[in-house]
Amino acid sequence: MTEVFDPFELQDTILGDVRDPFPELAAGRRRGAVVAGPPELFVDNDDDFEIAPGAPTFTAYSHEAVTAILRDAEGFSSSILADVVGHTVIQMDGDEHRRHRALISPALRQKALARWERELVGVVVDELIDAFVDSGRAELVRDLTFDFPVQVIASILGLPQRDYPRFQRWSIELLSGLVNWERAQAAARALDHYFGAVLADRRREPKDDLISDLSVTEFDGHRLTDQEIFGFLRLLLPAGIETTYRSSGNLLYALLTHTDQLAALRADRSLIPPAIEEGLRWEPPILFLIRNAAQDRDVCGTHIPAGAVVNVCTGAANRDESVYEDPDRFDIRRVPRQHVSFGWGPHMCIGMHLARMETRVVMNALLDRLPDLRLDPEFEPPFVQGTAFRSPPALHVCFD
Ligand code: HEM
Repeated sequence: MTEVFDPFELQDTILGDVRDPFPELAAGRRRGAVVAGPPELFVDNDDDFEIAPGAPTFTAYSHEAVTAILRDAEGFSSSILADVVGHTVIQMDGDEHRRHRALISPALRQKALARWERELVGVVVDELIDAFVDSGRAELVRDLTFDFPVQVIASILGLPQRDYPRFQRWSIELLSGLVNWERAQAAARALDHYFGAVLADRRREPKDDLISDLSVTEFDGHRLTDQEIFGFLRLLLPAGIETTYRSSGNLLYALLTHTDQLAALRADRSLIPPAIEEGLRWEPPILFLIRNAAQDRDVCGTHIPAGAVVNVCTGAANRDESVYEDPDRFDIRRVPRQHVSFGWGPHMCIGMHLARMETRVVMNALLDRLPDLRLDPEFEPPFVQGTAFRSPPALHVCFD
């Protein structure tokens, strides 16, 4: 008998039913650019987030402090990041990080993106919309945003379509590592085993896909080992799937609750790219990044000793009033200033162009195919929730 499986187990990773963290983050920012102690949000949500017990803890709130810390990879190491996916580029520092990043970046290059946009992302999104377009109603998280990034990554990797359901299941189990470590570890082993067979196949007979690209890429005489390739593929699941699923839900939430701006977008599609950036600034899928101080540093007047844990609050930096006018307002026409939702400095997201392209394709498809898309008045108004990850649990809509 098939085991019952609810893909919405992924909701476990949100950590806390926090609907509006921004007043508390603004209060933190008013206390200082960098403040001793963990963010109040975590204090209220028990000790799930005590990553290095006993170490002094600081929280960076202002845009200036957040970007200074993320830029300074010598002073602030990434090695502290939880290693549910193993040792991957996101936890590496210095030369190891530079070498690794140079090896994996070509796989996500601009040329590949143009082809994926044409041949793959549009097809995935259209198939998902086909399933509900005739009914006049949908729940966009369950019916669309939850599925499309998994399917996009699976097809970029070149996995056969029949394997998508189990790939999705392992991805979700891996992503739930914050609340069920054993299950996440078992999923990581299953993924390694599965990727091992695919990689061996591609080494024998390379195809036009990302796993084949990773197996031949070279930098400074180095090639990726099988273990390094598995690590990167596992990282793609939390880094490339969960973020994109949540950020596209957040953008849809913002537009559906600001109907004048949704109407403006419908009338002028050139507003889609700035709307994507504004959605990421206003309601990012991740509120915090984390670093450990590798050396003593002074940041915006606060001394951070080596060994300290630093919560880098990108969610607060994105609403810093010294950088963004009226920062709590969602406004797709605001003067563009770079947000920090993709990070900053040497670890800045290497999938950001893919994420933007995926979101653009989804938005265009929804505007093309669902005339007069609006919130369904039969349901309670939607909301965004979470501290570790944030997104709306549901978006009930109707259309003509
Ligand atoms: C809207 C969607 C996304 C958001 C908000 C996002 C956010 C981020 C952030 C904040 C970082 C920096 C982490 C740190 O400094 O500790 C990062 C790194 C990374 N992201 Fe993304 N990401 C998104 C989509 C993607 C996609 C689609 C992929 C790949 C397919 C991807 C792959 C990566 C990788 C590999 C890194 C590590 C880079 C490094 O350590 O040098 N991301 N992302």
